[in-house]
Amino acid sequence: MVAGNPLDHYWYAVATADQVQEGPLSIEVFGTSYVIWRTGDQTLVAAEDRCTHREGRLSNGVVESGCLRCPYHGWEFGAQGRCERIPSSRVETAIPKKAHLGNLPVEEQYGLIWFCPNKAVAAVPELLVDNDPAFTRLNTGMQIWNCSATRMIDNMLDVAHFPFTHAGTFGREQELVVPNFKLKELDDTFYGYDYSVVVNNEGDAKKMSGGGSDVISLNMSTGFSLPFSVRSTMSYENGIEQTLFMTAAPISRERSYFTFVLWRNDDVTVVGQEIVEFELAVAEEDRKMLEQLKGELALGQGDLVDVQSDKASLEWRRRYRSLISQDLESLA
Ligand code: FES
Ligand SMILES: [Fe+2]
Repeated sequence: MVAGNPLDHYWYAVATADQVQEGPLSIEVFGTSYVIWRTGDQTLVAAEDRCTHREGRLSNGVVESGCLRCPYHGWEFGAQGRCERIPSSRVETAIPKKAHLGNLPVEEQYGLIWFCPNKAVAAVPELLVDNDPAFTRLNTGMQIWNCSATRMIDNMLDVAHFPFTHAGTFGREQELVVPNFKLKELDDTFYGYDYSVVVNNEGDAKKMSGGGSDVISLNMSTGFSLPFSVRSTMSYENGIEQTLFMTAAPISRERSYFTFVLWRNDDVTVVGQEIVEFELAVAEEDRKMLEQLKGELALGQGDLVDVQSDKASLEWRRRYRSLISQDLESLA
């Protein structure tokens, strides 16, 4: 990706909160490496993974008393990436201004570490369910998929692949035709569609649904938040509700972070882990399919053959195209 990319002004989930505990974490977004660590009061700091002195790899350093120490000559960086100590200089010597690291936007939300490589022009996607006491959140690990984030979002918005790609989990061959849904604002954050779907509810799928017959119908809504997040809600007839939030972040053109977070309104202490495992199996079916596809999703109008069921992806591509062609001046 070129410098000055409009995508640099948006938030990406790059790690789970537990990945940034004791030591520094190295992450990569659009081919650039960054380091994230926590200061003594647990405040997150993010900076380029390159020491201001001789470009030492900061993520190979250690965090002591909230300061990140460069492994090369031991310079120490504290809150907001400020250089606090240069061991080779006398204590009374002023620290050069250029010794401070940049302090890039980083936040913790929904058990995830969100990072923005440049000044943020939007907020981290808002998931209102996280404030609802009836729901419990279940986090899963951060994964790396060898495919473009553009292909991942296209897949997350797609219902037509369920009977085929997900035949091993919840997909049901009998239900091939995708209803002609209407796109709309689902709330202030997500844009997508509501639909009802008939799914396989045998075996492990019963843990998700809380029981019922082997084939059930449920109401779903699926929508995106630019650039690479999708929320999918499921409401079962027995009152069980689940929100599945999926998000991708481009490490490079063909490599992406991926994680999902679940919220459920049933007793997750009983079935939580099994539900996570079921969703992980579903994600694995997608990963295997998508890792066979090279390069980014074609974005140009008319580049792909789109049918009625691709409406949401078409709209995501239209909005994504306009996002990536934004005038950088207007974002500064
Ligand atoms: S390169 Fe980091 S202290 Fe010298
Ligand atoms: Fe899928």
